[in-house]
Amino acid sequence: MDLGHPGSGGRPFLYVVVCAAGVAGGVGRLVTAAQQRNWDVGVVATPQSLDFIDRSAVETQTGHPIRSAWRRPGDPRPLPPPDAIAVAPATFNTINKWAAGISDTLALGVLCEAYGSGVPIAVLPCLNAAQAAHPAYRESLERLRGMGVLIGSHEPSVQPGTGGADVFRWEEALELLTPKPVS
Ligand SMILES: Cc1cc2nc3c(=O)[nH]c(=O)nc-3n(C[C@H](O)[C@H](O)[C@H](O)COP(=O)(O)O)c2cc1C
Repeated sequence: MDLGHPGSGGRPFLYVVVCAAGVAGGVGRLVTAAQQRNWDVGVVATPQSLDFIDRSAVETQTGHPIRSAWRRPGDPRPLPPPDAIAVAPATFNTINKWAAGISDTLALGVLCEAYGSGVPIAVLPCLNAAQAAHPAYRESLERLRGMGVLIGSHEPSVQPGTGGADVFRWEEALELLTPKPVS
């Protein structure tokens, strides 16, 4: 994965990695907030998450095709390489597989490679309390933190479900990716 190529208009390019959580349908809010902060945005969706999002609305909003599968050998890259990545919402499943180095979706492939490429990543976990209680999840977060991944505040919900996109803290991903002034 080569880095450092700006998106359209010379703007930095942000990948928004979307997983199959109930709030995923609200990802347009993150796209809007990122564009307002001068990011050119492309969405990489897990295959499962495609059922949760309005694909054509997101593609119209970003001006880029949603990627969810690997391109065929010889096909051009549909998106420029990322300058940063926001994983939102991040599921229990994808967090644990990413930490374990499993790369069986394009989204996981992008995330697993980004560490070695030095691309900054912010993740907003979205899961319920029963999932969060699993010891593998705590270990995964520790491992990702140790890899330099920026982890958002996460209040596991009592019930998994479809609502909540309006209260999900989408912009926290951008706040985490904004360099803090040196004091
Ligand atoms: C309506 C609905 C809502 C879901 N919400 C969540 C969620 O908030 N967090 C989560 O970890 N899994 C949730 N799931 C389960 C995931 O969709 C499932 O684990 C899936 O395999 C995740 O795939 P992915 O990580 O590749 O996107 C939900 C499933 C459904 C049907």
